[in-house]
Amino acid sequence: MPSPLRVAVLASGRGSNLQALIAARDAGTLPVDFAVVGSDKANAGALALARGAGIPTFALDPKAFGSRREFDAELFRRLDASGADALVLAGFMRILDGEALTPWVGRMINIHPSLLPKYRGLHTHRRALEAGDAEHGASVHYVTAELDGGPVIAQARIDVRPGDDEHGLAQRLLGVEHQLLPAVLRLLAARRLALLPPHGVALDGRALPAPLQLRHGELVD
Ligand code: GAR
Repeated sequence: MPSPLRVAVLASGRGSNLQALIAARDAGTLPVDFAVVGSDKANAGALALARGAGIPTFALDPKAFGSRREFDAELFRRLDASGADALVLAGFMRILDGEALTPWVGRMINIHPSLLPKYRGLHTHRRALEAGDAEHGASVHYVTAELDGGPVIAQARIDVRPGDDEHGLAQRLLGVEHQLLPAVLRLLAARRLALLPPHGVALDGRALPAPLQLRHGELVD
């Protein structure tokens, strides 16, 4: 058994994905230690959740820094100091500087609410509805300097139903996000995943031909 992965999490909002990770850890199905949870919003629900779970937290106010570069430098200084092996972006809504994140490439993942490469950036649910897509989904990918452009590790898909609106679609997707993110982190914690530069992902040393898919709560290829 590898030693528990030490994980740092960054989140800007309510933190339901963080909550899913904590619940999986508590259930004994996700062998990680949470080193720290950080946010760019002092009042983020994610920070309150983390405190409630006994995880160290910090918040950095972007307005207190002269530039994005200075904010990112302090952010990554805190993450380095936490002793984390891996970093999970769970609803972190700030763009990170390519140079600052370089040392973390290959051990940093993000969950994004679309079937990447579709709909990078914001308003993914609205854009899927406006395009008339029959299915929507979420992706977990390695973070690289390219915004929402790093190699995709795994995806979860849902049908778009007649009558879906942006809110309803987002809520239904969250339900599968809460399975997808712990499932991918479980593979990372087992040291089974690797980034194959520039755009590949390896599972157990074998290049994946396509992202893993979440089916019935399990990742399959
Ligand atoms: C999630 O839907 C996540 O996929 C999305 O923010 C939400 C956070 O919810 N992330 C992004 O849009 C990143 N670009 P949560 O705070 O309840 O976990």
